[in-house]
Amino acid sequence: MTTDRDYRIDADAPIGVFDSGVGGLTVLREIIQQIPNERLIYFGDTARVPYGSKSKETVTRYSRQIVRFLESFGVKTIVVACNTASACALEELERESRVPIIDVIRPGARSACQVTHNGRIGIIATETTIGSQVYNRYITRLNPKATIVEKACPLFVPLVEEGLWEDPVTDEIARRYLTELIDRDIDTLILGCTHYPLIRATVGRVMGEKVRLVNPAYETAKTLKEMLKERDLLRGRPHVLGEDQYRFYVSDEAEKFKRFANSIIKYGILSAKIVNIEEY
Ligand code: DGL
Repeated sequence: MTTDRDYRIDADAPIGVFDSGVGGLTVLREIIQQIPNERLIYFGDTARVPYGSKSKETVTRYSRQIVRFLESFGVKTIVVACNTASACALEELERESRVPIIDVIRPGARSACQVTHNGRIGIIATETTIGSQVYNRYITRLNPKATIVEKACPLFVPLVEEGLWEDPVTDEIARRYLTELIDRDIDTLILGCTHYPLIRATVGRVMGEKVRLVNPAYETAKTLKEMLKERDLLRGRPHVLGEDQYRFYVSDEAEKFKRFANSIIKYGILSAKIVNIEEY
């Protein structure tokens, strides 16, 4: 582990990305799309997923451990590709980390405010994210007149982690959760959990085509790119063959994670290594 004094960041250093499981891969996918030269290190906390039903203190402790783990690679920035961790731990992470931290909530709130016509915005997320009211705060700051309708969807994450992306069970649960949002005249719905883009088709079917779905991943990757550019940290040179461009770490079930990751990111992920994250 590097000490504060010798922690130097340069454009060639990798970017750290983390989530409680596979959800953050939807953000990683967007980062690869927008800044393909970057080296990325992904950590999925597969042993401790889901975060969305845990307390702020627990999620903050987990997030701090992961940031320490990612910093041990000399990363130049860290993307918290998890709404729940962003909602619970952002302030602590920004205070403690040696590198800039990018979250997914501020970019998601920004996107929704740009997209909505009638100012009526829905948010679906984990119980902990909804309970934190963080989306609410950011949206109201950007548009004090916005009407916000929130709904926690705790079963979505286990359904996604089980691979039931297109399944009658997921359809049924989505109808139960979302029907009350349909009656509230929202024209925009934030997918406020990075797992949810994987069931976007189901959510879209239930909500109908008049409701725009906002996936914060695009705006997050854009924010990341702009921040790196401003600090002169964008990696200019393309990857060379054999270079370890994307590395994946998990806290459990590496094989299962690898299978999932390969169906989300089309880059032939060859390995995912297990880490004892409690050591960090
Ligand atoms: N994907 C995460 C999020 O964006 C966490 C889901 C969970 O672990 O409950 O909130």
